[in-house]
Amino acid sequence: MRIYLDHNATTPVRDEVVDAMADVLRNGFGNPSSVYEEGAYARARLEAARAQIASLLGADASEIRFTSGATEANNTLLLGLLEPGDHVVTTAIEHPSVLAPLELLEAKGVGVTRVPPDADGCVAAGDVLDAIGPSTKLVSVIWANNETGALQPVEAIAERARSRGVLVHSDATQGVGKLVIDLSRVPLDYLSTSAHKLGGPKGAGALFVRDGRDVPAYLLGGGQEKGKRGGTENVAGLVGFGVACALAEAELDDRLARYASLRDRLWQGLREAVGGLRWNGDPKRTLVNTLNVEFEGVAGEVLVQALDLEGVAVSAGAACHSGSIDPSKVLTAMGRSPEEARASLRLSVGHGLDEAAIDEAVALFARLVPRVRERGNA
Ligand SMILES: Cc1ncc(COP(=O)(O)O)c(C=O)c1O
Repeated sequence: MRIYLDHNATTPVRDEVVDAMADVLRNGFGNPSSVYEEGAYARARLEAARAQIASLLGADASEIRFTSGATEANNTLLLGLLEPGDHVVTTAIEHPSVLAPLELLEAKGVGVTRVPPDADGCVAAGDVLDAIGPSTKLVSVIWANNETGALQPVEAIAERARSRGVLVHSDATQGVGKLVIDLSRVPLDYLSTSAHKLGGPKGAGALFVRDGRDVPAYLLGGGQEKGKRGGTENVAGLVGFGVACALAEAELDDRLARYASLRDRLWQGLREAVGGLRWNGDPKRTLVNTLNVEFEGVAGEVLVQALDLEGVAVSAGAACHSGSIDPSKVLTAMGRSPEEARASLRLSVGHGLDEAAIDEAVALFARLVPRVRERGNA
């Protein structure tokens, strides 16, 4: 049995999600835009999913725009909203699906301020707010960083930026299902989310667009999503997303306690069994399931491979760059040297793990880390 400790890269798809998706693939194949019964059935399943996603977020169903995932949600928002001459305040620790469109926009004359994090990977709300100027149209801040799990002060930023008339977006892809996110309380204008980070399938996600705000369509086509996102909907994927959200809503309190206990067991176990560790972050300001840890003197990618051969999946640097040995930009932005960043692994827990699996993983680390250390950071 493999031990999967990379739930921030993607999560195992929940059985309930698979069942709902299989059912809709078999029995709901109609095109949701068709007016006859098959279409109406598919449309009803989609709308039920929209309501489930909205409910988890504390939003109204009319505020949920379906996408193919968080990358599309982030691109839709940034490329649709920002024009030459506008200014955007963001952070140095965003996901590439925010960083890359902003680089493109910068080359076209959009001003971009990237606020750096502190040594624990968190930006200060004051630094973000101080960067707002007269041409600032948008503030975009990741809710929880994918590599470190570092939580950003999104609620404080949203309240204060909104009172200054600036629009606020958060990429909450890692937070949804692992944090209480209640958009009836937090005055965000836009939020991005993705099904595969909370037990749903890949290729389904959503952009929350608060009532009264607008974002032009990014994909043009057949007028789906009230003309805001062309393309026949991924009905099965979105139905799966809806079920994953309903499970998250029902289980959230248990999940928070369970993930924190497994993650803390992992950290305590590693601390006792392996010396020379450093937590890259502040446990009190970190997502409950994430532990980014430096194993001093280790070549991270070598340890990842050694663990993989023994049945444990973890990631070095950003998951999206697995296989690359470029030091993590997030860790270097936190002030880590390239060597320290390279010696760091991201361990993230989630559904399907238990104490025995954590203990087994710890025992493997205890066996493998000294061996990898002997080989040096080369
Ligand atoms: C914070 C964050 N934003 C965006 C994405 C991209 O999501 P998707 O895979 O749905 O495009 C990810 C996934 O790695 C992520 O962790």
